[in-house]
This record gives sequence, structure tokens and C-alpha cells, in this order.
Amino acid sequence: MKMVELLKMTTREERLKALQDAGYNTFLLHADDVYIDLLTDSGTNAMSDRQWSAFMTGDEAYAGSKSYYILEETIQTHYGYKYVVPTHQGRAAENLISQILIKKGDIVPGNMYFTTTRLHQELAGGTFVDIIIDEAHDPTNEHPFKGNVDLDKLDAVVRQYGAEKIPYVCVATNVNMAGGQPVSMANLKALREYTHKHGIRIIHDMTRVAENAYFIQQRENGYQDKSIKEIVLEICSYTDGATMSAKKDALVNIGGFLAINDWDIFEEARNLVVVYEGLHTYGGMAGRDMEAVAVGIAESMDEHHQRARVGQVEYLGNRMIEFGIPIVKPIGGHGIFIDAKAFLPHLKQDLFPAQTLAAEIYLDSGVRTMERGIVSAGRKPNGENYYPNLELVRFTVPRRVYTQAHMDVIAESTAEVFEKRDRIKGLKMVYEPKYLRFFQARFEPL
Ligand code: F0G
Repeated sequence: MKMVELLKMTTREERLKALQDAGYNTFLLHADDVYIDLLTDSGTNAMSDRQWSAFMTGDEAYAGSKSYYILEETIQTHYGYKYVVPTHQGRAAENLISQILIKKGDIVPGNMYFTTTRLHQELAGGTFVDIIIDEAHDPTNEHPFKGNVDLDKLDAVVRQYGAEKIPYVCVATNVNMAGGQPVSMANLKALREYTHKHGIRIIHDMTRVAENAYFIQQRENGYQDKSIKEIVLEICSYTDGATMSAKKDALVNIGGFLAINDWDIFEEARNLVVVYEGLHTYGGMAGRDMEAVAVGIAESMDEHHQRARVGQVEYLGNRMIEFGIPIVKPIGGHGIFIDAKAFLPHLKQDLFPAQTLAAEIYLDSGVRTMERGIVSAGRKPNGENYYPNLELVRFTVPRRVYTQAHMDVIAESTAEVFEKRDRIKGLKMVYEPKYLRFFQARFEPL
């Protein structure tokens, strides 16, 4: 490491005050009051020397920046998609594709929801239907590919609504909300075959595709001798286009894109991007950001990098398991997910067990985590709460930032909270925003 960032340690009293000021929502804490920040792996990556040097060569031309053409070529080479529309981050690409392809009354099947993805589908008039395999909703099930699509569930949706009501199937690689769980190549192939037969597109949420490729290499027959690069290219070949948040796999702090093989959709997307983001050759990114994304994409294919990255997450997970802490298994790619229902069995879901636990963990040690349960799931368009099976606290590990020693502090502090778990009471929500409530909701302790 060539550069270090100083961390601030706080007292319990200081943390209690910070937590109260933040309405018991870890999203509302000041990062300055956080010791080890596991809120997200999004945009929190450390860039390499090669990325920083590419950064300095960014071309900030408003139109036709050379950095755009470098990014375009990198995406074509590594992911195989034909056309590229840059966006400032992933959700902007989701907005574009949802507006272009979804009509009011359409159905969008997907392998588990992601917060922003589903909201854009709903805002465009669509209804999301979950078609992930049942195993994904069970934190203790050790299926090696819990991200897989259940083709029978998809078939039931197609029979009920008709293929013409389904603009695309949304497939995420390394499913975030399931705990960073991969999709198998066999499943993707079968899905491609099925959707071809019915004339349905596949749009790929490729935010963590390289981590998914690593798991395929480790777990799926016939892929042990293939490189991550080859596996990523094969994954993308079974899909028609993709939305990407470059803030994860691609090792940058900001950036994203929409990639698509269909010229007509591309035309519409690059027209629409001008309205929301910026010209189609920068789409909300600076030239220097596009340079850093291009280098980051290539680095994400590095075998040693992925082994170290996923290996660090595995190390943290195994330490938690040693302490008897209930986590989602198998250990995922980008973080450890604690099963808050099992950790706090005395709390009903309406008392926000995962939100409560994230607050308690912060209070104990200054480690910041994130709720991924009933608060994140939000409400249906008709106003009813979603009640997700998974009520999780996510310990997301930023790429290339922390050491194994930090992982030890995290596991040991969580074990201390686990010891005292009987004394933990729930929270009550006192402020609820209309969209993506988990970001800004406020709570009070019971
Ligand atoms: N899709 C997935 C699977 C994601 O994890 C995210 C972001 C997005 C899309 C949206 O991308 O943030 O660049 O607009 N996930 C972050 C997280 C926020 O913490 O999991 P974005």
C-alpha cells in the first residue's frame, strides 16, 4: 500500500450521541464518526497506481472524449456487449433501460429484487416478480449457486401473463440481496434457451459479475481451468444487454453504464441519457472517471485480486462462524450477512431486528453495517409493507481497503454483541420517506 487513511476511534458515549443524532439509521451517521466502514462495497474501493495514472490522462472534452472511446473498447473486449452508454452510476442505467423497455402493466421477472432496480421498474409502470430459487430465501441452505433462476417459476409467470407482457428478465450476477450469491453458468445457459424460445430479452445486472465468475471457477464443473476473463465473457454472451454500477467490481469510486447489443435500444438510450445525465460520450462521468473505470474493469479480471478479495470476505465469515454467529451460508462474495432473525429471535420483524442489530454493532465498536431486511424492502405500490424472508445485517467489505486485522476487530466486536443479545430491544420507525426509505428513515429505541 502506498497511501494510508487515518481512522478515528471514538468512545461509547460519543457513538451513542452520534447514533441518536442519526435516528438509529447507519446511513445517517457522519462517516467521521465511523471506525471501520462496512456500510457498502459501493464506491469505497481503493484505486490502484495504474488507475490513478490513467486518471491523470482523462480527456474532459464535452463531446467525443478519447476517454469514452477507451471505455467503450474495454467494455466490448471484456464483456462483449456492442454499444455503450455511460452513466454516473448503476441506477441511472436502470432508469434508462426501464423507461425504454417497460410499459405500464408489464411484468419484470428477476432473481431477487435490488432496491433501486425494482423501484425503477415500478416507476416505469412494471411489476417485479421474484423468480430466484427457493434456497436463496433460506439463510442456512448451502446451495452453491443460490443466485440461480427457477425456470419453473419463470415459466409460470410466462403462462400467466404471456411473453408479450415481459419486456425482459432481469438477471443479477452475484445476487446482492441473497447474500452475494452466484448464478451458475448452466443456469444462465438454460435461461438463455428458454427466453430464446419465448422471444424474451435478458438484461444483466452485472454489478458484481467478476465475483460471480470467480465462484463459477471455484465451484462449477468444467470451469476450473478457465480464466475469470473467459468466464465473464461467457456469462455476458447469454444476455442481451446490461446495467452496471462500476462502483463495485470495477474498483472505482463513481461510474456506471448501460451496455446493449440492440442498435435501436442503444439509439433510444443515448438520446435519453442527454436528458438525465449528460452527452452520450460521458453520461455524467468525468473523462478521468471513465479512464479509471476502464483500468478497473481489466483489474477485476485478475485471478489474484479476486482470490484475495473473496478470500478476505471468507476469512471474516469463518471468524463469525467460529463465534457461533448465524450468518448466511455459503459465505458470499462482497460481504457477510448476519441472519438477524436468528441472532435476535425474540424480536418480531415489525420491531426491525436487522436495523436494531446494525445500530447495536455500531454502538459497540464503531463498525458501520447496513440493514437489508424489512426496512430496505419498503412498500408495494399499493402501500403494504413487503415482508422479506431474509432479515439481514450486511457487513460489506470494500475492495483493497482493510487488512485481516480489521476483520478480527469486526468479528470480535460482533461476538460481544452476540453475548448480550437477550438484552437488545427493537426500534420504532418515527420518520418514513416515500422512496427507498432505508436511506433516510429515522428510528427510536423501544
Ligand atoms: N444493482 C446492484 C446489484 C447493486 O448492488 C447496486 C448498488 C445497484 C444496482 C445500483 O447501483 O448504486 O451505482 O446506482 N448497490 C449499492 C449497495 C448501493 O450498497 O449494495 P448504483
